[in-house]
Formats: sequence, structure tokens, C-alpha cells
Amino acid sequence: RLQDKLPKSHKEKHSLVQGNPGFDDADAAENTGSDPGERQESATVKLDTDEEYNQLQPYAGMPKEVLLLYSTRARYRVPREILFWLTVCCMLALLAVTITVIALSPRCLSWWQVSPVYQVYLRSFKDSDGDGVGDLRGIKEKLDHFLELHIKSVWISPFYRSPMKDFGYDVEDFQDVDPLFGSMKDLDDLLAEMHNKGLKLIMDFIPNHTSDRHRWFNLSRNRDPLYEDYYIWADCNVTSPKPNNWVSVFGNSSWTYDDFRGQCYLHQFLKEQPDLNLRNPRVRQEIIDIIHFWLAKGVDGFRMDAVKHILEASHLRDEPQVDPNKPPELITTEWDLYHDYTTSQVGLHDLLREFRAEMDVYSREPGNYRFMATESYDYQEVDKTMMYYGTPLLKESDFPFNFYLLDLPQNISGWWAKHLVDLWMTNMPRGKWPNWVVGNHDRSRISSSAGKIYIRAINMMLLTLPGTPTTYYGEEIGMENINITKSQMQDPSASRDPERSPMQWNGDMNAGFNNKTNITWLPVHPDYQTVNVEAQMKDEGSVLSQYRSLNRLRQSELPFQRGWFCYILADTNVFSYLRELDGHKRAYLMVINFGKQSATTDLSSIQELPADLKVLMSTNPVNDGKLFQKSRILTEPGEGLMMQYSTYTRFHPNHPAECFVSEKACYMETIDILYKC
Ligand code: GLC
Ligand code: MG
Repeated sequence: RLQDKLPKSHKEKHSLVQGNPGFDDADAAENTGSDPGERQESATVKLDTDEEYNQLQPYAGMPKEVLLLYSTRARYRVPREILFWLTVCCMLALLAVTITVIALSPRCLSWWQVSPVYQVYLRSFKDSDGDGVGDLRGIKEKLDHFLELHIKSVWISPFYRSPMKDFGYDVEDFQDVDPLFGSMKDLDDLLAEMHNKGLKLIMDFIPNHTSDRHRWFNLSRNRDPLYEDYYIWADCNVTSPKPNNWVSVFGNSSWTYDDFRGQCYLHQFLKEQPDLNLRNPRVRQEIIDIIHFWLAKGVDGFRMDAVKHILEASHLRDEPQVDPNKPPELITTEWDLYHDYTTSQVGLHDLLREFRAEMDVYSREPGNYRFMATESYDYQEVDKTMMYYGTPLLKESDFPFNFYLLDLPQNISGWWAKHLVDLWMTNMPRGKWPNWVVGNHDRSRISSSAGKIYIRAINMMLLTLPGTPTTYYGEEIGMENINITKSQMQDPSASRDPERSPMQWNGDMNAGFNNKTNITWLPVHPDYQTVNVEAQMKDEGSVLSQYRSLNRLRQSELPFQRGWFCYILADTNVFSYLRELDGHKRAYLMVINFGKQSATTDLSSIQELPADLKVLMSTNPVNDGKLFQKSRILTEPGEGLMMQYSTYTRFHPNHPAECFVSEKACYMETIDILYKC
């Protein structure tokens, strides 16, 4: 050991080196060749007192000179250098792999793309306090329902303070919760609990109008200098004609005389919903402040209400009549005029893009994308709707709601279903994300208007089309419209009561909507004994169970999320399409019968399909697992089949005109990753 070689004095002072690993005295002697005295001098650490000496710990280190002596020798240097360069190479390789993976990876889908959007009509979802009207605590009690259905995004209709003339779409205070629905604390609790459970909350946002009870309107009527131009005012008086022929969406003139101010104000909806003047920069700033208020609270997105109405032409000229010969006094409905001056005005998209830019500030928080959907019924003018998608450089809404499938009942059939789907797919700007709506609080329930037998087929189509499906509460169990007598009527305008009846949770009193008192603001549908969540949860073949399985499959199977969508066939009865992903073995053929007759579908001309097809899921559970030859696929009216098959032969390369893809990606099976292609 080194100690033996060291001079005595040194040995005494440096017993600390004893046992230091790798300390080979033979080498030491051979290498230094210097005389012991010199070595002693250089290796000595000056320790003057015994006390200092005792404080030294064993193995505290090796004198620098000794260390250097050995470290330069080949047997230490070479491995060290090898290790060093190996580390450098590994780091570089890791960096290269990381960069390649990032460069090759397609963008991840965001939460609003992965899950359907579930619409809660708050008044009707769940009443926690027994006053007959649904509330925020009610929703909180039912959050597990969304988890059961594999739903992550929940849009809640307005809960702002409101006189409820249009059930919350007439807002008295944009920064408060109406006591009927709960308190701000209830909202905070709900939001926290939703986030806990991985759910996202989308709020209704109403930029077009306020309630006539809003503070701003009062100040505007009073000609307060700051608020005078917050609304659209025009000269008129009680007796003289209205400023022009414009009509409200809910019928009759969109002008109402206000005797306090002595002028008419514009309202594109109820007279209790005066239109804001969004041309006034102060009004725009108010809207932006409200956006910030809710996003700062943590709300995950907005459904922008009635956006096509937010600007009107300042010249206030008459709108052209659809029938020029109709006497002007008979011009009373929305359908009597072309809305050249009250909808989709120049500047509308600039405004929405401005709002979006404000929202995007919050989207920069990692994992916290803030979502925007817009509501605009443009009927035949699909290009107007598509404008809300923005441009490649200017973001607007993530999607404008696609209402075309609401027209399915008009002509229910295979080719009509394809026509409506295609209206969106062929007109949607490249690279955008589709979405599908089959019902909402303004439209008859689809199972009533299309016919109850089609609800499963409709849900199946909804959940297998590309893009984001929207589900209006109750569609997952096949709820239908209620019949309303005159005395039960609640909706002052278009009578939208039938589709707003209480959610059917179970077979108990009030269908479980309100289990405290016997009050419900609208009657419960009489079918609630069988059509309810609890009963359908227990039944594997129920509308609800099918919705769940379809949604689970949709989210776990890549071809549904990111794959191609290709038309296969559309006739009087059947609409058939497939979903496939490049590099992915599993593909899905959908055959859905929207007709009135049983159909035998012959797909033998489609070479890319295998000869035999196995049913993974039918809307009629009896047919699950059934094997069909592709030349003879049998479906009953209202039946949908999902057939899974395995192949690497792709349909889309041979039929580009029949196929669409959003967020294109390819799959590499060997390492189970998606890559850009
Ligand atoms: C939207 C809402 C509707 C409301 C109207 C006015 O269309 O969906 O319910 O009555 O805007 O705010
Ligand atoms: Mg307006």
C-alpha cells in the first residue's frame, strides 16, 4: 500500500489515504521516479495541529499530484476517453431521434376533436333544489354520466343573470350567475369538479344582444354620453312607420319604440333583447372584457350565439322582399326578406377574429386550449358558414356548427344522408375539422322528426363520421319531443318547448329530474319509464349502451379519429362509407339503412373490400358477429352495421374524389406510432 512507500512522517499525517480504491503504490513508485523527499514535499497537505488532523474524514480525497499521476496513464485515460465520446454520441443520437420524432409526428388532436360535444340545456338537465328548473348543482351531481359515455366536452346553455324572457339568452349581467341556476360559487365548484374529472366546460356566449334590463340599456335609454351608442337606435315614433322593413327572427318588426328615449331600438330577436352596436369600440371592449373574465376563471371555450346577426348595415335601407309583390304590411317573418343588411355584414369576421385572438392568449397555457364554436344558420349559403373557419393565416372558430343533418328528416333516405354529409365535406376548407349536429334546444328532436326507428342509425352515423359529433342531452337515450298544450307553453317565440323537456334519468318521480318536489317547468315525456338512463344502462342492447360502445370505439380506433372517410354507396335506403388509415390493418365499413324498406346491398364491385365481412356491431344486437358476403349485405330500415375487416389494401388512393381526410396521418404498426405522411 502507498503508506508503506511514503516516508514515516508522511505516513503518520496521511493515514487518510489508506484504502483509497485504485491506489496502486507499485505504479506510483515506477512512474514518478522522483526522490522520496520531493514526493513528501509535494504530497504533503499542511496540517498543523492534531485537532485539524483528527477532523479529516477517511477517503476525503487524493492529493492532486497523485491523482494526476495516475489519470494520465493509458489504462485510465483510454476508457475515460471512450466513455466520454460514447456519452457525447449518445446525446447527439438522442437529440437526432427527438428532432426526427418531433418533425415526423402529426399534431396531436385537441380535446374538442377527441370527444363529442354534449349540450346540456341547463333548465332541463337536473334540478337539485326542487324548484322544477335544472341548475348548476344538478349538473355537478350528474358528471359521471359524461364519464360513462366517454364524453369530455360539455356545452352548457346560458346561466348568466337574466329575466328569462328567452330563457337566459337575454342577459342582464354577463358576469353573474342567475340565482335560479345557483351562485357564482356553484359555478366555480362545478368547473373545479369538471376539471378534476377531466371534463371541459364550454359556455354560451351572446355577443349580439343583451336583455332590455341590462344596465347598459338603461343608460343608453337615458342618453348617458358614454352609453348613448351602445345599441342601435333610429328615429321613429309610436305612430310613424318603423325605420325600415326589417323583421325579427321571432317574427314582426325588429324595431320597438322606446318612449323614454323617444326613438326605436333594433332587436333581431325578442323586443326584450336589444341588439348591441358592435361598431362602437367601447362595446367591443366590453365584450372582450367579458371574454377575459370567463377565461381567467378557467372556462374552456365558448359557443358563440347568433353570430351572423352581430352587425347590421348602418344605412338602414329596406331589405329586398322574397316576393316583390307582397304588400309590405304582410312582411312579418324571417322568410319574407333577403337578409342582405341584417346578417353576415362586412366586418363580422374581423370582429370574431379579434375575439379569437383574445382567447388565444389563454390557449398558450400548456394543455389548456380554449375552444370556439359559432352558431350560424346560413341554410343554402354554405360558403357563408365556412367563412367562420377563418383563413390559413387568421384563426376564427374551431368550427361553425354544421346543422345540415338537422334536415335529415325532410327526406330520410340513404342518398339524402349522403347529400347532407357531402354538403359539408365538399365545401369545408382544406385542413379543417368537420362536426355534426342532429339536435339542439332550437330544433325538434331528431328521433321525433325522423322517426324513432332511426335514432340508433343516426347515432351510429354521428359517431363514425369524421370530426366532432354533437349530442343534445337525451339523444343518447333516444328522447323524443313532448306534446305541449297551450297552457303548458313556456317559450314565447318559436315554441321550442317540445325539445326542451326534462332529462329522463330513471323511472322514478319526474324521471329523476327533480326528486324533491313534484314540479317540473315543462312536462316529462310519458315514455320515461322505459326511455331513461338507469334502465338503458342495464340493457346492453339499449340506445345508450350502443352510444357508449360507439363512442369508446371512436376514441380508441385510430381510423375513426384520424383516418380517411370514403363514400361507398348511397341509394334510396342505404348510405355506406368506410374509414381507413394508411398503415393500419383494421378498417371499418359502415352500411346504414335510412330507408323504409329492408335492403340487400351489393358491394361486389368494390375490389378493395374483402369478400366476406363480419359485423362488429349492429344497431340490432341480434346481428352482431354475423358474416355477410360483400355482394349481399342485409339491413332493415333504421339498422346500421359496422363491419371491421383487416387489410393493407387502401380504397382512397384509387378513389380520391370519394374520400376526405382531416389531420392526415399514417400509422406505423411495428412501433405503434403515427407519423406525418
Ligand atoms: C340562438 C339560440 C336561441 C336564442 C337566440 C337568441 O339562436 O340558440 O335559443 O333564442 O340565439 O339569443
Ligand atoms: Mg346585431
